[in-house]
Amino acid sequence: MAQRTALITGITGQDAAYLAKFLLEKDYRVVGTYRRTASSNLWRLEEMGVLDRVELIPMDLLEMTNVVRVIQKVRPSEVYNLGAQSFVGVSFEQAVYTSQVNAIGVCYLLEAVRALDGAARFYQASTSEMFGKVREEPQNEDTPFYPRSPYAVAKVYAHYMTVNYREAHGLHASCGILFNHESPLRGREFVTRKITASLAKIAHGQQDVLELGNLEAKRDWGYAADYVRGMWMMLQHPHGDDYVLATGESHSVREFVDKAAECAGFRLAWEGEAVSARGIDRASGKTIVRVNPDFFRPAEVESLRGDASKARRVLGWQPEVTFEQLVEIMMRADMDRAARGRLLHLRF
Ligand SMILES: NC(=O)c1ccc[n+]([C@@H]2O[C@H](COP(=O)([O-])OP(=O)(O)OC[C@H]3O[C@@H](n4cnc5c(N)ncnc54)[C@H](OP(=O)(O)O)[C@@H]3O)[C@@H](O)[C@H]2O)c1
Repeated sequence: MAQRTALITGITGQDAAYLAKFLLEKDYRVVGTYRRTASSNLWRLEEMGVLDRVELIPMDLLEMTNVVRVIQKVRPSEVYNLGAQSFVGVSFEQAVYTSQVNAIGVCYLLEAVRALDGAARFYQASTSEMFGKVREEPQNEDTPFYPRSPYAVAKVYAHYMTVNYREAHGLHASCGILFNHESPLRGREFVTRKITASLAKIAHGQQDVLELGNLEAKRDWGYAADYVRGMWMMLQHPHGDDYVLATGESHSVREFVDKAAECAGFRLAWEGEAVSARGIDRASGKTIVRVNPDFFRPAEVESLRGDASKARRVLGWQPEVTFEQLVEIMMRADMDRAARGRLLHLRF
């Protein structure tokens, strides 16, 4: 069989690093697109040991001519659209930009795939944030969307546009409605990584306190490596379709902090409620976690929990890493980075 070519947008991101490694192990030619920036941000590909095996090509989802030319040049057999302004908090301040990248950018890409010859299989990174103010528990592919941020609104547009190109133009296009998935490569602005990196710095005397927003928000957290396997499985199925990938368990931010603190060698006692809540290290009596209202979202998504039974039944996908294992993997990686002084430049 001829070697397959995968094009991954957003190659500098968390999922792309795991996906690139996964596809290279399956003998794909992997082409990754990145935005030109003043300084290089290829550290995730480096950490995964695949930087020299991925072909890199500059492409901005905001520039249609660029998108079309890249698709024509690479002629991919599979396109994984992972590029996005992916931070929900920022989307409230940059709603137009987020819409242009996360919604219109996807339309450019779908048009480019359709114009090529429509033969490339297409994966769109949809998100559990589209369920927002949830209409039922747990959420599956039939649960109505109620997005609660510009990020999620833009993703709903991209989701339905992908469904439409599948139905109207016959594209093999799939949307993965992925619940939160984390790893040691997660961006440091995301709450899980902020928790593990901050606690590692506190344990190594490099930071005093971890400040968080809503401790009671609940998420269904899985491991990124499990989820990129699911993306690939969607594109191997004879037909495009939409699938939820999730663990089916949800945990609060506070539970994540408790487990991570334990891995970092702390035992926390909690005092106070809501914005006055404080996590105190029992051994030293010091406050190491406190709430800062600045980190609350203007419109909160209180609780998300996914039902991935369709992906299990149709694709044979299921997650392998548990919540406890995920926190341990992340905490161990950040403790190691802190010990080597690699987190000193991070400000939280
Ligand atoms: N991780 C999750 O829990 C989760 C859950 C559901 C859905 N998703 C979605 O899945 C995808 C991958 O997630 P992730 O966690 O890997 O995100 P990530 O680490 O934030 O990566 C996002 C990537 O998109 C790129 N990007 C941003 N703006 C772009 C633009 N204008 N043109 C081209 N590329 C652009 C970023 O490049 P820079 O490095 O230059 O910023 C980065 O490479 C995203 O679409 C995200 O919204 C993620």
